Parts: sequence; structure tokens; C-alpha cells
Amino acid sequence: MSPSRRTLISTAISALALTALATLPAQAQGLPKLKVGLMLPYTGTFAALGNAIENGFRLHVAEQGGKLGGREIEFVKVDDESDPSKATDNVNKLIKRDNVDVLIGSVHSGVAMAMAKVAKDTGTILIVPNAGADAVTGPMCAPNIFRSSFSNWQPGFAMGEVVAKKGHKKVVTITWKYAAGDESVKGFKESFEKGGGTVVKELNLPFPNVEFQALLTEIAAAKPDAVFTFFAGGGAVKFVKDYAAAGLKKTIPLYGSGFLTDGTLNAQGADADGLFTALHYADSLNTPRDNAFRLAYAKTYKLQPDVYAVQGYDAAQMLGIGMAAVKGDISKKAEFTAAVEKAKIDSPRGAFTLSKAHNPVQDFYLRQVGDKENKLVSIASKALADPARGCKM
Ligand code: BEZ
Repeated sequence: MSPSRRTLISTAISALALTALATLPAQAQGLPKLKVGLMLPYTGTFAALGNAIENGFRLHVAEQGGKLGGREIEFVKVDDESDPSKATDNVNKLIKRDNVDVLIGSVHSGVAMAMAKVAKDTGTILIVPNAGADAVTGPMCAPNIFRSSFSNWQPGFAMGEVVAKKGHKKVVTITWKYAAGDESVKGFKESFEKGGGTVVKELNLPFPNVEFQALLTEIAAAKPDAVFTFFAGGGAVKFVKDYAAAGLKKTIPLYGSGFLTDGTLNAQGADADGLFTALHYADSLNTPRDNAFRLAYAKTYKLQPDVYAVQGYDAAQMLGIGMAAVKGDISKKAEFTAAVEKAKIDSPRGAFTLSKAHNPVQDFYLRQVGDKENKLVSIASKALADPARGCKM
């Protein structure tokens, strides 16, 4: 064969091979694993929340055979310690040193706001699997930022309607002084005062302080009709126990956004019995979807799931939807975003869609604690959408 004919044939073979390669799924092309940066608290008052989110996330990935959009997953983990002052460094390390393709985090609103700033500046896809900071799907909203959880405003607003309908007029609020506490109380106040009630006193202590005694004495002296609170994780366990030990549970009804009693009931014991809270999940939804999820979670981890596990699971579902749409090529951001925006996410909490600002539009359940469960009482707020104040997208 002449040299020129040999060159022609080998060029044709190369072209054919390239065409075949382009039509193969990402994984078959030998694309590297998708690097998922998990920035969550693994120590401190929110440690259990971070672990539950990771468990839920991994469960969905395992159910997909370990791949999303045809790519195997590699996790890079950072313990963010729920410390906003370390958050920018932590997230920059994940992006610049570890070269993660996507960010998942976090639990604490202050940490999530730092992550959202970096995600917005770098264009990295971020899915927030808990932190409710209103700003993330408000003024900081962006095409590459999504939330699988809630905004702080949502459960507060849902509970304010319930407490007003119960006929309470004067309420004292108590929470940690940071975005999650402030915004939960703001949401509560908005609907409670619209319903005819008044918030007579707003009590605060710095996060993650749990020295509640002086504030409980103030509550006793103020004699309100009811108390509304936001606490979560280890802080919620201590608050519920201290509230009962101070004798207040018998005289002043305590209401909360549902984090007060989610993932905490074993440690709170009888002190949590009877408490009413509002959240986008409950332990007794008894739908085929939730039952299947709960069974799979319990089998895998020998633990009952909570709202944090559901949010982690749904963050992985959202990532999977985007990854499938771009066939594993996460650099196709516009296509990724379009797919997640139009998806109906088949969550154990009940299917939900995302608002224009990428926050779940979802039902909020009124729950009551009994038999170590957050039992479903009713739907407090149907398809509640965060107002997304300040989002320009
Ligand atoms: C937050 O900081 O946004 C948060 C933390 C724990 C539970 C719920 C919200």
C-alpha cells in the first residue's frame, strides 16, 4: 500500500473513532469521577445533622448504582464546624485545591451564605441541603445555586398561622442570634401578627450558646400565652429539656419550627411529648414513596431518617437530574440549570418543584410529638413558596 493511501485510511479510522467516542456516555469515555465537595458540620452542635445529610445523599447515589449522569462519584469532605469565619477558606480550598466539580453544603446559614458568595463568583454549582438563609434564594440567588431544603422564613411563617388560629394573642420568641433564628422569628411574626397576635418580646442568645436559664426566667416573668422558638441539633435537645425542667412546659405552650424536635427525640425523651412544630417533613406521612425511603435508610444505616436525611437525599436527586440532562458534562451549566428548574423532585416529603429563585415550593406539616415520632397532624401550609425578596433572576 502506498504511504499516502495508508495515511488516508488511518485518518478515516481516527475520524470514525472520534465520532463513536462523542456518542458514548461520559463514563464510557473514561471521564474522571465527578468530584462532589461535601462541606458539612461533622463536629459541634450540628454534627448529627451533617451526618444525616451525608447518609441521605449517599443513599440516593447507591440506589443509582454509584453513578450520576453516568459518572462515578468521588467525595471530598470538609468539616465546616458550623463556623462562618472559616467558611470562605474552606470552600475556596474545595474549589481551588481539591478541584471539586460541585458543592454540597451546608447546615448553618452563615456558612451557607459564604458558600453562596464563592459559588456565585466562580460559577460552581452549589446545592444547599439544609441552611435556610433567606438571602441564598433572595438577594444572592443565581442560576447555579439551588436549595433542596427550605428558607428560614417558610417554617416560621407556617407556624405563625397555626399559633394565631389556636387563639394565642401574646407570644415571646427565643432563639439564637444569627440568620436562621432571626429569619425564623421574622417569618413567624409576619403571619402571627397578620392573624391578630402580637410578639411581645424577642429573646436571643449567641450561637451556639446553650445557657438558657436567665432567658427562661424572663419568659416566666413575662407570662405570655405561648412561646415560639428556633433551635436545632444539640441546642434543641438542651432547650426542650431545660424548658420542661424550669416548669414552663406545664404553664406556657411551646411551639417551634420543626427543627426543635427533628433528629432529637431520643435525647429529649418525655420532655418533648406533645410539642407542636411545623416542618416540610413528618415521621408518619405513610406514603409509598416515604415508606420505601424510610425502609432503605433504616436498612442501610440502622437508624431512622429525619428531615436532614431527606434533604441530603433530595440534594443528590437534584444533582442526578442535572447530571442526566448534560450526560455527565457538568460544564454545561445552562442545560443543567434548565433541567433542575423544570423537574418535579420525587421527594420522600412529597413531590416538590423549585421556585424561580431555586427554593422548594412545598407543603408544611403541623406535627405533634408522640411515641418518639413527629406525627402528622395536618397540612399547616399547602405549597408554600418563599417570597424570594431581593432575588433578581
Ligand atoms: C440554619 O442555620 O439555617 C439551620 C440550622 C439548623 C437547622 C435549620 C436551619
